[in-house]
Amino acid sequence: MPLMEKHMPQFGETASHRNSLSRAETLEHAMSEALDKLVVKSVIYTSGEIDPTQFPNLSPSDLAGKRLLMGDDPRLVPMPEKPTLLDFFKYRFAPATHLLQSAQLALKAGHNEKVVLACLLHDIAFIGFIRSEHGYWGAQLLEPYVDEEIAWAIRAHQVLRFFPDESVGYAYPEAYVQFFGEDFRPEPYVEAAYRKMRDHKYYMTARLITLNDVYSFDPAAVVDMEAFTDIIGRNFKQPEEGLGFDDSPSAHMWRTIIWPTKFL
Ligand SMILES: [Fe+2]
Ligand SMILES: [Fe+2]
Repeated sequence: MPLMEKHMPQFGETASHRNSLSRAETLEHAMSEALDKLVVKSVIYTSGEIDPTQFPNLSPSDLAGKRLLMGDDPRLVPMPEKPTLLDFFKYRFAPATHLLQSAQLALKAGHNEKVVLACLLHDIAFIGFIRSEHGYWGAQLLEPYVDEEIAWAIRAHQVLRFFPDESVGYAYPEAYVQFFGEDFRPEPYVEAAYRKMRDHKYYMTARLITLNDVYSFDPAAVVDMEAFTDIIGRNFKQPEEGLGFDDSPSAHMWRTIIWPTKFL
């Protein structure tokens, strides 16, 4: 999602409502904020959205009278000093409808808490950070804070989405035929990863993510985050210092989500 479309989110609000709200707010921000405090050509620097053909050569004239952003982006809601996972859902990932509905499907199907949490978190990398290879990024982001089974499953869903498993009723997604065409085949490295994952002890946990990872939702259905707060409390090791400030191997990734346009 382009950064400019972010705004103070509400769980469960519809995408069209959010977009029209956020466009109005974006305009308002654009007019009212002191432009010399904004990062120069900042959209280019938004995490995961760098277009290598557009890499800017900043010249002294580009920078004249401007300061490069090294803190909060005024277009985004500031985060609390010691942010929790729920704060990230509220201020950076919301409405997160796809994640909430995936987790609710898993809950209703009677799966255990690890599966439910894996479904709730499986796409946070691309919702908050980067789309390409999001399963791998998401697993790294979460590894210090969740059971290894959850992190493994989130990593593997990246690959398993492309491969059917009739034993659980998972077919190749119809949406992928539309997205990528009839002729699309995953790269050989993806197939090699799939063959390894197929025999792993956590295979079924990852497979259950793909089973609950549906693209067609009822847009009117509202899922309350409240339904998952106890599961998060029991299964996510929230660091006292706040995500991003606990010196974990992925703390820098959480900070990038907090400050996606910080110049350095
Ligand atoms: Fe995904
Ligand atoms: Fe998904």
